[in-house]
Amino acid sequence: MPWPLGSIGFQWYSSPFGGILKAVRGMHDIFGLEMTKWKWIETQVRSVFENFGYQEIRTPVLENIEVFSKTVGDETDIVEKQMYQVTKENESLVLRPEGTAGFMRAVLEHQLHRDPSVQKYFYYLPMFRHERPQKGRLRQFHQFGAEFINDSSPEADADVIALLDSIYRKLGITEYDIRINSLGCLECRPQMKETLTRFLKPELPKLCEQCQKRFERAPFRILDCKRESCREITAQGPVLSSCLCSKCQAHHLQLKKRLNEAQINFIDDPSIVRGLDYYSSTAFEFTSSLLGAQSALGGGGRYDQLAERFGEKPFPAVGFALGMERLVIALEAKNAFPEKPLVPRIYLAPLGDKALDILFPLSLNLRRAGVWTEISYESQKSLKAQLKHANRIQCRFSLILGEDEINKKTALLKDMTAQTQMEIPLEGLFENLLNKVTREN
Ligand code: HAM
Repeated sequence: MPWPLGSIGFQWYSSPFGGILKAVRGMHDIFGLEMTKWKWIETQVRSVFENFGYQEIRTPVLENIEVFSKTVGDETDIVEKQMYQVTKENESLVLRPEGTAGFMRAVLEHQLHRDPSVQKYFYYLPMFRHERPQKGRLRQFHQFGAEFINDSSPEADADVIALLDSIYRKLGITEYDIRINSLGCLECRPQMKETLTRFLKPELPKLCEQCQKRFERAPFRILDCKRESCREITAQGPVLSSCLCSKCQAHHLQLKKRLNEAQINFIDDPSIVRGLDYYSSTAFEFTSSLLGAQSALGGGGRYDQLAERFGEKPFPAVGFALGMERLVIALEAKNAFPEKPLVPRIYLAPLGDKALDILFPLSLNLRRAGVWTEISYESQKSLKAQLKHANRIQCRFSLILGEDEINKKTALLKDMTAQTQMEIPLEGLFENLLNKVTREN
């Protein structure tokens, strides 16, 4: 896949308006070569979703605050401190920090879970979290997400993990670890909680302030604390998988069997608890050494009880999301973007108004025929200046038309790579040209 030109590099522009001409901290403009890389990734990822039978869904960027506060969890970083709030009249809205809760709101609103024809949805949407920006961690970032509903089998979990794995494989990324865990269900989670809190209670004074706060209401969140001192304590904790009920154990075993059959390497890691509260049973994370400190490439899990948090009857659901910006970092670290730049096929250089009269409609006809065509509308410019531009944008061919050529009823086609040129009659110019420029490499 080739690349277009157009990235002219960064230029420092000091504005008299100060910050107004700067994107909001942690948010970026995407254009030029960067945009082409994104579009290339988007095409690859979409094709994998389609092969796995996923249908696209787009939900609004604003949701009522409860969509997240009731679902992602009061004690999570996202709800506690990262949501961008928008208040208008009596509405309290937030810019979506993640896709699953809004997806569930849409499913319930439109009763999509009752539609037997579609069980699998994907999205590609911007997300907003007020985090401390650093490499791979932004305040506006983009996620591809997959949500598979109405299937409670471990095979559905394996299917979703295989899908995420296939996306990275399709992009040529192999440097990642897959970690899986089971978080238990309504039946065994109380036992897990009890075991965990019994262990943590005597350690409480040594935990950070936030973990102490979380002890009563959300002790599992403590396992997700990033502080080294808290991590050292939780690493000594009980193996919670021993508390799983027989159903959860069987589910987890079968998932592992399926992943092995699919030749997907994974690590069974009891420390995977995820940073959102709606998960039960299977949870997983993909991490990569290509990324640096923010090593999470993607992650997800099962959220069979999420509908209940909206006051509805629950149904099975499993899914994941992956960060687009982190994909770009991984691919750049590997130098894995295809190299050859995509360049315009032909540049039309009119010398004078009469030439422009002929070349203007020709440019449109070539574009309609699928040929990337550039044209100069400054027909008074010298041939030298026009060809210099054609060279700069690396056009494969240039077509020159001046007084002399018009008098001779021909145009001059230059092959900029082979450094050859030939005359083409004006009569039948479009067909001849199309034939010539689409035939050559
Ligand atoms: P999450 O783990 O919060 O899960 O985010 C998924 C991925 O989004 C991360 O692995 C990372 O690649 C990317 N990501 C998260 N935060 C940032 C950030 N600030 N900057 C750049 N990239 C970021 C969820 O969001 C769940 N909704 C996933 C899910 C779907 N579970 C079930 N279905």
